[in-house]
Amino acid sequence: MAKVLLIGSGGREHALGWKLSQSEQVTEVHYAPGNGGTAGGKGRNIPIDGSKKENFDAIAAWIQKEEIGLTVVGPEAPLAEGIVDFLHEKGIHDVFGPIQAAARLEEDKFFSFDIMQELGIPQAEGIKCHNINEAITAIKEQSSKDGVVIKARGLTGGKGVKVCDSAQEAIDFLEEHKSRFGHEILISERMFGQEFSVFGICDGEDVLTLPVAFQDHKPVFDGDKGPNTGGMGAYGPAPIAPPEVIEEVHRRVMEPIVKAFAQRGTPYCGFLYAGMMMTETGPRVIEFNVRFGDPECQPAMMLLEDDLYDLLKKATAGTLKGHALRCRDGHACCVVLASKGYPGAVTKGLKIQGIEEADALDGVKVFHAGTCLESTELLTSGGRVLGVTSTGEGDFRSVQQQAYKAVACIDTEGGFHFRRDIGAKAHTL
Ligand code: AMP
Ligand code: GLY
Repeated sequence: MAKVLLIGSGGREHALGWKLSQSEQVTEVHYAPGNGGTAGGKGRNIPIDGSKKENFDAIAAWIQKEEIGLTVVGPEAPLAEGIVDFLHEKGIHDVFGPIQAAARLEEDKFFSFDIMQELGIPQAEGIKCHNINEAITAIKEQSSKDGVVIKARGLTGGKGVKVCDSAQEAIDFLEEHKSRFGHEILISERMFGQEFSVFGICDGEDVLTLPVAFQDHKPVFDGDKGPNTGGMGAYGPAPIAPPEVIEEVHRRVMEPIVKAFAQRGTPYCGFLYAGMMMTETGPRVIEFNVRFGDPECQPAMMLLEDDLYDLLKKATAGTLKGHALRCRDGHACCVVLASKGYPGAVTKGLKIQGIEEADALDGVKVFHAGTCLESTELLTSGGRVLGVTSTGEGDFRSVQQQAYKAVACIDTEGGFHFRRDIGAKAHTL
């Protein structure tokens, strides 16, 4: 029997904690700091924001005092800041998440470009640039009639990528991009195709790949219009990535990455997320993330059949070899309810109603992201507020309809913004 500590406060962390709580081996799930939906049942919010570097000491002290048996790091920022290395140095080894040297795979787009190049992993052509002049030359070289992509080198919360229709548009945008994200830029070939996300659990030597791929919906409006967000909804299995495609991604992308980190002496233990595009020449990597996707984690946790605690403990012990991940038959679909104005500025502190009614529907679970409790009142506290998620063994359309039925139960002052076409691509294949 063990207590688990989850670092983070979003829908991903709520979904991970919900799944971990289902393990008979787990007595309590502590969230640092969690949100308005994570406390209750086995869940307990603690008043430490573990995603901030200044709190790593307090997190270590909490793990020791509470005798936490497993710590799971949800978001990328504390991983990039070295929370796992910090805890290891304190003698705390039951931590699931990559060390800083491995977290560079997401934090540094130059690093991930080079490692893919070295391993022959299919990706977009690219040129690393250290100043605007280099970038202008690279844009002229890399752009085709279909345009070109500008990517910031560092972590930008998904905002540092600009897909341009022409070289001129890219050149015109460079100054603004530099002022927001710095002068180090990767200029990439623009690829075309449907996107999908593949996830693995790594133990330093091996990776178990989830047999279902998910599809996120990054643009804020229906039909993939408008600015990119953290993700407005996700569903799986994504028909664009049937089992043979997932197997190919496992063999050509996931395994080589984990083996390469082991060989470099910086073993990769944690979730590995390959953001993929199905191009005319087959699946190619758009980017890597060193954590679970959000919102993909919400439908993924509803479909995962195995005991997550057991898997993550095995990962931290380096004993995943010979195991496989299993998913339930059927589908899952998550519709994100966002505050109006997201991904721009939003009003916070609005009352939320109807979650219990939505949760009571068959196969529905409402995961919280930007919510907080004030006395007994549930209020909005961020851009993405809730992930309304449904699952079922029927066809995808019925699961999708059930998610939207649940969405209709929930309201806030002035209404939420959400996409009405989550999963629409599943009907086109
Ligand atoms: P990233 O943060 O690298 O996942 O990029 C955000 C989004 O930009 C992706 O989900 C894609 O829609 C788009 N994108 C990134 N790189 C490319 C590329 N090389 N070609 C086309 N679209 C891209
Ligand atoms: N779903 C996109 C992300 O987690 O980065």
